[in-house]
Amino acid sequence: MIMKALWLVLPLISSVRSQTSCRCLAGDQCWPSDSDFSILAGQVSQPLLYPKPPAAACYPTSKPSGNCSEVTDNARNGNWRSGQPGSMQSPNFETYIHGNGTIDACYVNVTLGYKCKQGSVPVTGVDAHTISDVQAAVKFASQHNLRLVIKNTGHDYLGRSTARGSFLLWTHNLKDITYNEGFVPDGAPTGESRSKALTLGAGVQWFEAYNAAETNGRFIVGGLSMGASVGAAGGWIQGGGHSAFSARHGLGVDNVLQFTAVTASGEYLTANAFKNVDLFWALRGGGGGTYAVVTSATYLTHDRVPLTATYVLANFTTPAIAQDVTTEFVKIHPGLADAGWGGYSFISPLGLQLFYIAPNVSLDNANATIQPFVQYVTNATGGPGSNNLQAFVVPFESFYAWYVATYTIGEQVGESLELGSRLIPRETFEKEPAKMAQAMLSVNSGVTINFVAGGAVSKPDPESMGLNPAWRKALGHVLFTENWAEGANITEIQKAKQRVRDYVRILDTLTPESGAYFNEATLYEVNPQKTFFGSHYAKLREIKAKYDPQSLFVVASGVGSEEWDGSLNCRHK
Ligand SMILES: Cc1cc2nc3c(=O)[nH]c(=O)nc-3n(C[C@H](O)[C@H](O)[C@H](O)COP(=O)(O)OP(=O)(O)OC[C@H]3O[C@@H](n4cnc5c(N)ncnc54)[C@H](O)[C@@H]3O)c2cc1C
Ligand SMILES: *[C@@H]1O[C@H](CO)[C@@H](O)[C@H](O)[C@H]1NC(C)=O
Ligand SMILES: *[C@@H]1O[C@H](CO)[C@@H](O)[C@H](O)[C@H]1NC(C)=O
Ligand SMILES: *[C@@H]1O[C@H](CO)[C@@H](O)[C@H](O)[C@H]1NC(C)=O
Ligand SMILES: *[C@@H]1O[C@H](CO)[C@@H](O)[C@H](O)[C@H]1NC(C)=O
Ligand SMILES: *[C@@H]1O[C@H](CO)[C@@H](O)[C@H](O)[C@H]1NC(C)=O
Ligand SMILES: *[C@@H]1O[C@H](CO)[C@@H](O)[C@H](O)[C@H]1NC(C)=O
Ligand SMILES: *[C@@H]1O[C@H](CO)[C@@H](O)[C@H](O)[C@H]1NC(C)=O
Ligand SMILES: *[C@@H]1O[C@H](CO)[C@@H](O)[C@H](O)[C@H]1NC(C)=O
Repeated sequence: MIMKALWLVLPLISSVRSQTSCRCLAGDQCWPSDSDFSILAGQVSQPLLYPKPPAAACYPTSKPSGNCSEVTDNARNGNWRSGQPGSMQSPNFETYIHGNGTIDACYVNVTLGYKCKQGSVPVTGVDAHTISDVQAAVKFASQHNLRLVIKNTGHDYLGRSTARGSFLLWTHNLKDITYNEGFVPDGAPTGESRSKALTLGAGVQWFEAYNAAETNGRFIVGGLSMGASVGAAGGWIQGGGHSAFSARHGLGVDNVLQFTAVTASGEYLTANAFKNVDLFWALRGGGGGTYAVVTSATYLTHDRVPLTATYVLANFTTPAIAQDVTTEFVKIHPGLADAGWGGYSFISPLGLQLFYIAPNVSLDNANATIQPFVQYVTNATGGPGSNNLQAFVVPFESFYAWYVATYTIGEQVGESLELGSRLIPRETFEKEPAKMAQAMLSVNSGVTINFVAGGAVSKPDPESMGLNPAWRKALGHVLFTENWAEGANITEIQKAKQRVRDYVRILDTLTPESGAYFNEATLYEVNPQKTFFGSHYAKLREIKAKYDPQSLFVVASGVGSEEWDGSLNCRHK
């Protein structure tokens, strides 16, 4: 009996042992051979990529290998950075910090005197131009047990689109765009209503999507940043995807009608309300880089309308004024959300900058809405003539006119930073404005209110998709960044990271039952499952297990990541 039992058990033990619990990384013995890579090269439409950190062109300093002035000219340009497979928008994620505190980096500032190191930039990968390229890359990574990273634009604020020693699947060149006047989801029953929809390949960025919508006389809800370089069909949508227009039209996930995707087994499929319904549920807010490689997203488009933009700039000359005005500012948000307003504001102990829009609201109506606040701030900051306030209300004929005037110039990225955030419930704005103001003002470097929820974001059934249910109760989210300069030493970096933890704790204390936006958050959440997914975690985990049973897709704080160690390369024993 005993012998028999042992015979049954032994093969099991050895099969577990022979199955390594760690990914195979570049430089490891198990890393695929040149001949393995040449087989892969024969399966894909483009030459294999050998990414370098973007500043590599400036090295060696004695004889730069490329055009270094191109690097220094463009280091803060989001579109230039997204065009480079080895670049992240926040260059700190291109670096690697060893256990002993030594930093491997490739700094733009060559006078710092360091050598250029590969850091956390993948050493090789696939430049996908077709679905079959994506399938080949996924199968190769799976077959060789590689740490696969899916990278689109590299905007991720948690560095999830890069990893040291990894194999890269670059989706940037999946650029197809199709407009369909009468879109019907695949598999829909006959009689299903038709929509005016835009289908965007995984590599399409917002500037391209906005141009395509405008060309077709339509409006699309999307991300807003300088150069509009954020991806329109990658991490943005899978994490939720907010916009200044969300109070009017909902989040990205409320506007998507269909995805196509390649799963970990290499299968190409469609996910929508009729096909692979569970995957569709998870891809709407359950987080990028987790379930499958999205190859396209199809969005509902909307009628174009004019809008009115409102700008308010105020200086605070004392802490009491800061507290007073910020409290009043918090109080006006529920009403603004009900009127379809949205946008971005920045609050610090020194002052306030408000930059909001009201779609399909006339100049007079928008002005009438904001005037009581303007009057309040005028009085609170020293009365008329004290020159601590500027306010403008400006009409635009369309979203596109406003977008061109606002976002096509300027630079926003290229700085080493990490951020922290909290979704703030409407109830907190209504019931605890003074407490919320105090929490925000305690962040010395200031906070941004992304006023991107309420209104249409509050309407859908929270159970209708994977998105963190906390979004449905929120009016927006408050976030802050902590930055450091190139060449900062480990002590300075650790101090910045500690400030992120400390400020997140302050925001969490204000809103213990809320959560945070997966795409704009910190790596140091105490309970990332609760914070990012709330009550949806268990269902998301099940869906991941179904579509990615071997956990090929793993990202920091993503669903299923708790089964891996801090490097995300080895499974916990
Ligand atoms: C300057 C700036 C402005 C921003 N503005 C906004 C904004 O207005 N609204 C907003 O909601 N957010 C905004 N964000 C946050 C943004 O949503 C995230 O950075 C998001 O992760 C970007 O997705 P990406 O695909 O462009 O970037 P990437 O960094 O390339 O990818 C992000 C994550 O998604 C995964 N991923 C990417 N493509 C795919 C795919 N095809 N299939 C599966 N997984 C994929 C990656 O593996 C990674 O985990 C902004 C960020 C920055 C830096
Ligand atoms: C280097 O890049 C700059 C753009 O920043 C460009 O103007 C210049 O022509 C380039 N030089 C060469 C030699 O390609
Ligand atoms: C730190 O560790 C790295 C990697 O092991 C090593 O290359 C480097 O020399 C070490 N630095 C110091 C100062 O010990
Ligand atoms: C580059 O580094 C040098 C040396 O630390 C410093 O003096 C200089 O200000 C830096 N340049 C920029 C543009 O940051
Ligand atoms: C815009 O507002 C006008 C009235 O102010 C209304 O008639 C029209 O239907 C609105 N358009 C849309 C698309 O909401
Ligand atoms: C907004 O209203 C104020 C107060 O009524 C008025 O002084 C101002 O001119 C108006 N601004 C615009 C742009 O109409
Ligand atoms: C601003 O001050 C004036 C004069 O004291 C007062 O009449 C007015 O009501 C105040 N407005 C607000 C919004 O507090
Ligand atoms: C706030 O102060 C700054 C610096 O003192 C000044 O340049 C700016 O014009 C002031 N802004 C307003 C709105 O008064
Ligand atoms: C790190 O940098 C700071 C600021 O420049 C400096 O004060 C500190 O001594 C440095 N620490 C180490 C360990 O080099």
